[in-house]
Amino acid sequence: MSWQASVLTLFPEMFPGPLSQSLAGRALREGRWGLEAIDIRGFATDRHRSVDDTPCGGGAGMVLRPDVVDAACAAALASGPGRPLVALTPRGVPLDQAMVRGFAEGPGVVLLCGRFEGIDQRVIEVREMLEVSIGDYVLSGGEPAALVLLDACVRLLPGVMGAAASGEEESFSAGLLEYPQYTRPTNWNGLPVPPVLLSGNHAEVARWRREQAEMLTRTRRPDLWARHGTGSPHALDGKASAA
Ligand code: 6GU
Repeated sequence: MSWQASVLTLFPEMFPGPLSQSLAGRALREGRWGLEAIDIRGFATDRHRSVDDTPCGGGAGMVLRPDVVDAACAAALASGPGRPLVALTPRGVPLDQAMVRGFAEGPGVVLLCGRFEGIDQRVIEVREMLEVSIGDYVLSGGEPAALVLLDACVRLLPGVMGAAASGEEESFSAGLLEYPQYTRPTNWNGLPVPPVLLSGNHAEVARWRREQAEMLTRTRRPDLWARHGTGSPHALDGKASAA
């Protein structure tokens, strides 16, 4: 049985979306992973097929009903038990490469896409959902975040990327941003490729790349730089130089 993703959403037509293309799309067609989009509205029970209601205590927007969400979760888990239930919401814990690797190593994921003002807290707790965010900005719904999470997981599945990537990911640059890359022409509109990269001196090339990676990380991502070399987990977890 391959890695299985179930996505609970009010917009099932958003899937597979961009995941039908490129690396993930080829892997999907090859059966290296599976994807089912489950329409939450299919689990509404009333005449109006309502999935949400006004927030208790007042306020703007609508909240996803616990009974409807719970039934959708039950249906997803029936077709593939033992998978973590992840709710995509801006108030979640930040997604990072270590979390992605954990998901990729398991049997798959069930993703609940938040909409409206949120999800009833009781079903979050009863279903022991892990609330995950993809960054400090607000999307109109969890669907793009689900696509991001799935793309990050799928590229790590066996046979999805070539052998080239996996070895490189354990290189010196773990926890650093990637150094600049260049290709031919070696002079483009009067702009030369840094001569060290054409020198054939592998030790010098490695030193230059490390310096560049460290400088970029220090200036762009002081948060990553502070953790670098401390032995604590890195947000990029060795994958930054493999993209
Ligand atoms: Cl997972 N959902 C929404 N709606 N907004 C987000 C997000 C998720 N992560 C960052 N912003």
